Amino acid sequence: MSARVPPAATAVALRRGGGLYLHLPFCRSVCPYCHFTRTAAHDAGLRGRVAAAMAGEFALRAARCALLREGRVQLRTLYVGGGTPSVLEPRLLGTLLAATAGRLPAAADLEATAEANPESFTAAVADAWRAQGLNRVSLGLQSLDDAVLRRLGRAGNAADNRRALALAARRFPRVAADWIVGPGVRPRSLVAELREAVAAGVGHVSLYILEVHAGTPLAADVAARRARPPGGRALEACYLEAVAALEALGLKQYEVANFARPGQESRHNRAYWRGVPWLGLGPGAHGFWGRRRYANHADLLAYCGAVEEGRLPEDAVDPLAPAQRRLERAVLALRTAAGLPLSLVPAGALPLARGEADGLWRLEDGALRLTPRGFLRLDGLESLLARALR
Ligand SMILES: C[S@@+](CC[C@H](N)C(=O)[O-])C[C@H]1O[C@@H](n2cnc3c(N)ncnc32)[C@H](O)[C@@H]1O
Repeated sequence: MSARVPPAATAVALRRGGGLYLHLPFCRSVCPYCHFTRTAAHDAGLRGRVAAAMAGEFALRAARCALLREGRVQLRTLYVGGGTPSVLEPRLLGTLLAATAGRLPAAADLEATAEANPESFTAAVADAWRAQGLNRVSLGLQSLDDAVLRRLGRAGNAADNRRALALAARRFPRVAADWIVGPGVRPRSLVAELREAVAAGVGHVSLYILEVHAGTPLAADVAARRARPPGGRALEACYLEAVAALEALGLKQYEVANFARPGQESRHNRAYWRGVPWLGLGPGAHGFWGRRRYANHADLLAYCGAVEEGRLPEDAVDPLAPAQRRLERAVLALRTAAGLPLSLVPAGALPLARGEADGLWRLEDGALRLTPRGFLRLDGLESLLARALR
């Protein structure tokens, strides 16, 4: 069996359009739980160098892909993530967008998102982003409670978050916001915060249960027993109450951590889950383009150095073996409200009848659809699928 996606299928997928992801790794301060490619050690020189390298990376990839080079891939979604994109000088972002997204024909309904941290999301940034064509902002609020923000180690406070929320709602047609359900969060105040944000104009909420990632200061604190590992029944109860509250507010759960008013779902994320090709640019960015999936160097200097020498800044390339693709498709589908088609569940992999009787999922329309309680068991279910599909 070939370990590669047939070229014809890839070209067809690309002609239907693709997504572009730009990773901006700069932050004002680094949160203790964060495992993304990010740094607080930067100056204007480094920011300019990375932005120029990202434009260079686009050119290197275009040189290897005729559809990209000739502008024959329609840009359906653009996502500027980080790190903290609102820390980058808007002028630099404008130059970077012109050298990347600006080289591709944009779909009439292009969804163009950038992530912002409330402390650096100013009126000047918002106005520049709108002028550059961004039409959706995703705010990293995490909480509207100062005590919770302090426990998370966030740089900003609840007043910053409320100011950013009001500014985003005034300037952007679509506003998304992230919450982290972690220690100190109480269901009643979380629900009140979500109500407040939705009333202020948020049409999309991401709700993440705090995860401990190896190598972060949070992981060190947990290992040294300076912090308790997050999780347990209290956080699960918070998640379940928040899910119910969001549904009552008209934001439907369309993925384990994502909720939206109908029509405000993140098309960029949906495209990932559906296997639409996306070009990822920047340090630590991942992409799925042509016949392969790749991960860029996370180290900023290694990343810039490679591009400056005319090499693709890739740290790892994945040939997309068929078994791995099957597992990924199954896991990604399981995470969504549409659910996992039963045709993708290997015989005996999951206790179908028992899970349904226990209220973990519903079996309907030929799919296994997790309930909110089922979403809390996702890790275990993914392991069962992995074992059966290996
Ligand atoms: C790529 S991060 C963007 C961070 C953004 N600069 C900020 O600080 O708000 C996207 C989102 O992932 C979530 N996140 C990051 N680390 C997490 C962790 N360890 N556990 C749960 N959610 C996390 C946060 O909600 C964050 O807003």
